[in-house]
Amino acid sequence: MAKAVSYAQYGAPEVLEVIDVAEPHAAEGKVRVAVRSAGLNNFDSKVRRGGYLPNHTVPSLQGAEFAGVVDEVGGDVTQWKVGDEVLGWIGRGAQAEFVVVPESNLARKPANLDWAVAGGLGLVANTAHRATNALALGPDDTVLVTAVAGGVGLIAAQLAIAAGATVVGTASESNHEFLRTLGVIPIAYGEGEAERLRAAAPEGYTAALDQIGGNAIRTALDLGIPANRINTIADQAAAEKFGLSSVGGGKKTSEELAEFARMAAEGELVFPVRSTYHLLDAANAYRDLETGHGLGKVVLLIP
Ligand SMILES: NC(=O)c1ccc[n+]([C@@H]2O[C@H](COP(=O)([O-])OP(=O)(O)OC[C@H]3O[C@@H](n4cnc5c(N)ncnc54)[C@H](OP(=O)(O)O)[C@@H]3O)[C@@H](O)[C@H]2O)c1
Repeated sequence: MAKAVSYAQYGAPEVLEVIDVAEPHAAEGKVRVAVRSAGLNNFDSKVRRGGYLPNHTVPSLQGAEFAGVVDEVGGDVTQWKVGDEVLGWIGRGAQAEFVVVPESNLARKPANLDWAVAGGLGLVANTAHRATNALALGPDDTVLVTAVAGGVGLIAAQLAIAAGATVVGTASESNHEFLRTLGVIPIAYGEGEAERLRAAAPEGYTAALDQIGGNAIRTALDLGIPANRINTIADQAAAEKFGLSSVGGGKKTSEELAEFARMAAEGELVFPVRSTYHLLDAANAYRDLETGHGLGKVVLLIP
């Protein structure tokens, strides 16, 4: 038997339990990975709370990204051998001792990449990359990045800066010092936010990458940013109402994941992990994530 994070009813982190499942094995074309780390995403929480995905059913496993060590390969697998260190993605069930995935769902983990970073990088990097590309940012852009201290915001900001843009981001004051080290101009959110944003970029903003929705979108529009240069990943209703761009996570490839991993390993991408929990403590890990605050990623570890 093997341990896996699961829930049998919809709800808050309280519904999470770590159960014993039959140990999976690698069939033809598949690879089994002994998981060392698995990232948490807000998507997991939204699905687990119910009503988010129309076809989702319980009981359900949880988690969509992982890093670990290949420990079984099926027939016809050409790229991987037992002992390889990898990171990858799966529809559901990454938060478990073992995952079995098609070999094309894996990328090689650089030897010096921290396990927690490797297990938590993929989904937010894919989302940030796609969102940033959608706005075709360049040196003439001054970009507002909302929730810049979150998993997606941190990477989106760094990709925008790498494209030559000036980035102003909203975050709690406790995160400002760190954000400045990345080249972000941090602004406290809350009362007076719009005035502070105007003061930070007197020439105005040309684009926004939104991770919050609601009032943050109103503010972006009030700042004069054209609707088609505001990309939101957090408010589909506003996207439709105002004609915003709404490119979020999507098609993943092994090559893309390997490139994110290389960038993180070589320091081109700084990816803070704000806390780690043992797999057995998954409910507390999600309580932490669902506070909605903090710098960077929450990751489960199987040491
Ligand atoms: N559509 C998609 O494909 C897609 C993909 C990934 C994520 N998402 C969505 O995008 C959102 C962000 O995801 P994430 O993984 O980056 O979240 P996260 O890592 O949990 O970070 C959330 C961040 O929001 C900040 N925050 C909270 N209230 C804020 C406010 N009023 N203004 C500015 N920042 C605020 C917090 O920073 P402080 O500590 O500074 O408060 C925290 O760093 C979630 O709603 C998620 O579901 C969508």
